[in-house]
Amino acid sequence: MIAVCRLEDLPEGESVRVDTSPPIAVFRTDDGDLYAIDDTCSHQDASLSEGWLEGCLVECPLHAASFDLRTGMPTCLPARRPVGTHRVSVEDGVVHVHVAAREGSAA
Ligand code: FES
Repeated sequence: MIAVCRLEDLPEGESVRVDTSPPIAVFRTDDGDLYAIDDTCSHQDASLSEGWLEGCLVECPLHAASFDLRTGMPTCLPARRPVGTHRVSVEDGVVHVHVAAREGSAA
């Protein structure tokens, strides 16, 4: 579990990049919901935390593929593969990411 930031430091409609390896993007939607996905687009090397957030979708800043924050699935080309998703919780006003085990990892 990784502490990301205080909840009030992540306004609705904004995102923050967590410098894990690989990096994770945490989003707070306009509805106040929190989601975390792998930050690197599955198409090429772009940071999804720098993308455009609309509802539960984030649009990649490089070639405009869109990903569903709830599932990590791309909703349009050019991305074809999903990105990983991670659980988010808030404890004592601090946003935490629970990094999901990766395929092929020993976890
Ligand atoms: S790098 Fe994201 S769509 Fe191409």
